[in-house]
Amino acid sequence: MKILVTGGTGNVGGAVVKELLKRGAKVRVLARKQPEEGKLPAGVEVAIGDLLDPASVEQAMQGIGKLFLLNAVVADELTQALIAYGIARRVGLKHVTYLSVFKVDQFRDVPHFASKLAVENALREFGVPYTILRPGYYMQNDATLKAALTGPGIYPMPIGTAGICAVDTRDLAEAAAISLTQDGHDGQTYDLVGPTLISGPGNAATWSRLLGREIKYAGHNFDQWEQQLRGRAPGWTAFDLRAMLQGYFDRGFASTETEVARVTALLGHPPRSYEKFASETATLWKA
Ligand SMILES: NC(=O)c1ccc[n+]([C@@H]2O[C@H](COP(=O)([O-])OP(=O)(O)OC[C@H]3O[C@@H](n4cnc5c(N)ncnc54)[C@H](OP(=O)(O)O)[C@@H]3O)[C@@H](O)[C@H]2O)c1
Repeated sequence: MKILVTGGTGNVGGAVVKELLKRGAKVRVLARKQPEEGKLPAGVEVAIGDLLDPASVEQAMQGIGKLFLLNAVVADELTQALIAYGIARRVGLKHVTYLSVFKVDQFRDVPHFASKLAVENALREFGVPYTILRPGYYMQNDATLKAALTGPGIYPMPIGTAGICAVDTRDLAEAAAISLTQDGHDGQTYDLVGPTLISGPGNAATWSRLLGREIKYAGHNFDQWEQQLRGRAPGWTAFDLRAMLQGYFDRGFASTETEVARVTALLGHPPRSYEKFASETATLWKA
């Protein structure tokens, strides 16, 4: 059965494609334009289309059995998601695995969480067999912090001091592929979490050790953080991500031992740690 992957040219979707291929699945990626040579592994089909163009999505779903649905954080995320879901229903797909977010129901004031919660509600209501994946903060977000960590020596993400849930996107991709290639995951909602919580001071200490220099946590001045992000991203993005991070700080975003045990059982191995991700990333930077 062939699986359509949305977001297959991005970070998580790209990893999902690899995990599906490892398990022998046939894969088609929906892409807005032809990916550069070598961007996708050999044997992956490409359907050119846009999640805002229902006709192109319907075309991409011809001959497809299952869907991995990932939507970028965009202002019309909910519309894009419901177009894909509505067409999946219309053409009779056998399964949709949807990428949501951890604690989606506790951050209904955060625009992209509210979109994802609405999509989860549709999945539960309208009958297509589904699996929902709810990942925490992506450890791989921090691979983009090289300039701040190796330059001024700042860990700039305002993730607070209490400890939040983070996941390695490789574990997320494995979970997605498992849900799409094995039986027993219909109607399940999986929290995708790492083995331990991460915090601003904790991550600063990890990077200090790995990079051999003092890294300081920049703290959590949310007004300043939103203002800075507005310089390189649309205002609505800065608002949305600030609301999320401030929500983590005010209300907490911690995972539990029970959730770690459930991920371990799903993956068949313990989830990867932030320490492992950071150590691999530091080695790459040094090389
Ligand atoms: N970062 C985190 O800590 C975190 C945590 C939990 C959940 N999430 C969720 O993870 C998702 C982002 O995953 P990611 O990091 O893999 O994203 P990403 O690397 O930014 O990739 C986004 C993908 O979406 C595609 N796309 C965007 N607009 C499209 C459209 N109109 N039609 C078709 N495809 C479109 C992009 O294709 P192009 O190549 O054409 O641009 C790209 O493949 C979001 O839903 C976010 O809420 C993130």
